[in-house]
Amino acid sequence: MVYIEKFGHGGDLLTARQLFGKDSAQLLDFSANINPLGPPPRVMELLKDQLESIVHYPDPAHRVLKQKLAGKHSVSSEQILIGNGAAECIALAILGLQPETVGVTYPCFSEYEQLARAFGASIKPLLGREENDFKPERSEILQLIANTDLVFAGHPNNPTGVTYSKEELVEMAEQAEKTNTYLIIDEAFIDFIPIETRITLLEDLQRWKQVILVRSMTKFYAIPGLRLGYMVADPTLILKLQAKQVTWSVNQLALLAGEAVLNEKEYEEATITLIQEQRTYVKLAIEEKLGWRVFPGQANFLLVRISADITAAELQWRMGHKGILIRSCSMYQGLTDQDFRIAIRTEEENQCLIQALIEVSKEGNPS
Ligand SMILES: Cc1ncc(COP(=O)(O)O)c(C=O)c1O
Repeated sequence: MVYIEKFGHGGDLLTARQLFGKDSAQLLDFSANINPLGPPPRVMELLKDQLESIVHYPDPAHRVLKQKLAGKHSVSSEQILIGNGAAECIALAILGLQPETVGVTYPCFSEYEQLARAFGASIKPLLGREENDFKPERSEILQLIANTDLVFAGHPNNPTGVTYSKEELVEMAEQAEKTNTYLIIDEAFIDFIPIETRITLLEDLQRWKQVILVRSMTKFYAIPGLRLGYMVADPTLILKLQAKQVTWSVNQLALLAGEAVLNEKEYEEATITLIQEQRTYVKLAIEEKLGWRVFPGQANFLLVRISADITAAELQWRMGHKGILIRSCSMYQGLTDQDFRIAIRTEEENQCLIQALIEVSKEGNPS
């Protein structure tokens, strides 16, 4: 049964409003993994000031943002492609590389499979084992890379929060080079991980011609409605994918926001600290007060398995009537109808979530 995910994703407030008879201000959204601090206030101000710039076309070559991101990551501008969200980057990668077979490590973001199929590829699935918190086996992922044209790996993966070690990433990249397979490492949520423990191939990316890193700016900077993401890869590969991009697909306000957020160091630190603290709080509260299993994710969300006689869809329905949206995960390959995902939000909001979960879980079985 699907309620708010009728178009495949969380964060669908229009559907939630219609289902639960509430307006947006009455809904607390834990179903999309967006920074609960909202966009940096200075960036909101800048956008208001710059609203009139929409009378001009945006820079079709995204020069300023590319340069800033290149500086931030110590790569060249030629290694960067700016997209209308990480979603556009993923689509461009498949469109540009035209893989016949795409390896997908489940459970994962549904767009990998959906876009691969839409562009005519066939899927080779690899299911992570529950006893390993759904992390794919090392040997199996290497085999998947050897047997396909392109492989997606979420790092951290959505909805499990699983990450790979540096050694594992290097091994995967080397396998991709050896077997002539493209490896797309989706780092859409990586900015939520503290810099000291953040593991990425970014620093050594020039070693690998087959590896593409995808990043999102919509989640960390809370601008999903504006849309902004980018990928980093070998310049030749970037040129090839850029050739498939619709000119001006990234709008002027998104470019301006992207340039401005890169100066927001304090906001970045505050976000990371908040998410770290609150993820621990939410995880422990669910484990101790509800006795439900929480998978050990690294990102700004948690995957939870209900151990009560209620499905995630029913839980979502009851929570929705209290004005709290959670993401049912029954439609993710490899997960069950007892699984749901919640974003980590502010302390007060997380307390509301826990309180509501306790109340709902005591309501008894659905008839
Ligand atoms: C793993 C993952 N990658 C990419 C995206 C797309 O992000 P964006 O909003 O930047 O297009 C999402 C969105 O939920 C996601 O979960």
